[in-house]
Amino acid sequence: MPAITSTAPGKIILFGEHAVVYGRPAIAAPVEQVRARAVVMAEPGWTPGRVRIQAPDLGREDFLDELPQTDALGLAVRLVLERLGLERPPACTLRISSSIPIAAGLGSGAAISVALCRAFAQFLGAELDAAEVSALAFEVDRIYHGTPSGIDNTVIAYERPVFFVKGQPIQLLQPASPFTIVIGDTGVRSPTALAVGDLRRAWEADPGRYEPLFDAAGDIALAARRWIETGEVDRLGDLMNENQALLCEMGVSSPELDWLVEAARLAGAWGAKLSGGGRGGNMIALVPDELAPEVADSLRQNGAARTIITTIRAGRMPR
Ligand code: PMV
Repeated sequence: MPAITSTAPGKIILFGEHAVVYGRPAIAAPVEQVRARAVVMAEPGWTPGRVRIQAPDLGREDFLDELPQTDALGLAVRLVLERLGLERPPACTLRISSSIPIAAGLGSGAAISVALCRAFAQFLGAELDAAEVSALAFEVDRIYHGTPSGIDNTVIAYERPVFFVKGQPIQLLQPASPFTIVIGDTGVRSPTALAVGDLRRAWEADPGRYEPLFDAAGDIALAARRWIETGEVDRLGDLMNENQALLCEMGVSSPELDWLVEAARLAGAWGAKLSGGGRGGNMIALVPDELAPEVADSLRQNGAARTIITTIRAGRMPR
C-alpha cells in the first residue's frame, strides 16, 4: 500500500484575536507558504492495532498505546479511530513534520491536527470533510489552548479566509481583491495558553475594563469584513493599527512585537499588528503590493527572525 500524505497550511489572524474567545467576531486567513504534513505508512509485518507516531522535528517517536490521554498527537489519532468506530486499525507509522514555527501564532498545533486526522482517516478508507476535520482538530486544540475559540481549526481545515464567531456556523470570506500581508516573526516563542490564561484572569478580576476592549475589537472585525468584501483594502490599515492598540491594552503585546509593528509602519505599511496569541510570535503588516519586499527587509533589519510575504485571496473551495 502506498504511503498516504496530507498537508495543512498555517494561518494568521487578521483581526479580533483574544476578543474572539469572548464571543466577538474575528477574521483569519490561511498561510500557504508554511505547512504541516502527515504521512501514513502501513506496517504489514506488525501486529494489527500497533500505531507508531513519529515527529522527528520534535525528537519524538511513540507507540499510541503508550501515550497518555492528554498527548495531542495521540488524541488526534484516537479521535479519528473513535469517529470511524475502529479499535484495531491496520498497523502503521504516522510521521509528522511541519514548517510552521511552534508557539508563534501561526496555528502550528491545529495544522498538525488537521493534516494528521485527514491522512489517518484516508489511510483507514474514510474521506473526512472540512467540517469533520475541523471538529476533531478543535478537540485537540483544547490541549494546546485550554479554552480555544475554534478559529484556528476552522480556517486551517477550510483553507479559506473566514469571518468567525465562536459557536456559530462558519462564514467564508470572499475578498473582492487580493491583498498582501508581510509576516514578521519576533523569534520569541510564547504558548497561546499562557496569554489566553493571563487575559482570562485579568478579565475575571475586572470585566468592566476588558469588555469594552473586546467590543471595540469586534466592531473592528465587522468593519474590516466590509472593506475586504468591497475590495477597499487600503482602509484596513487603520483598523489594524486600532486593533493593535486594543491588544496592547489587553496586555498581550510585547516590546519585540511593538518594535516590529513600528518598523513596518515606518517602512510604508498601511497598518500592522500582532497576530495570534501574542506576547511573542508573529506580527503582520498590510502593505501596498510593491512595498512588500522593502517592508520585509526592514523587519529583518529590525530583528525579525523570519519574514513571509503572503497574499490573502478567496482561495479554493473546501472539500
Ligand atoms: O496563537 P494562535 O495562533 O494559536 O491564535 C490564538 C488565537 C486566540 O484568539 C488568542 C485564541 C483562540 O482560541 O481564539
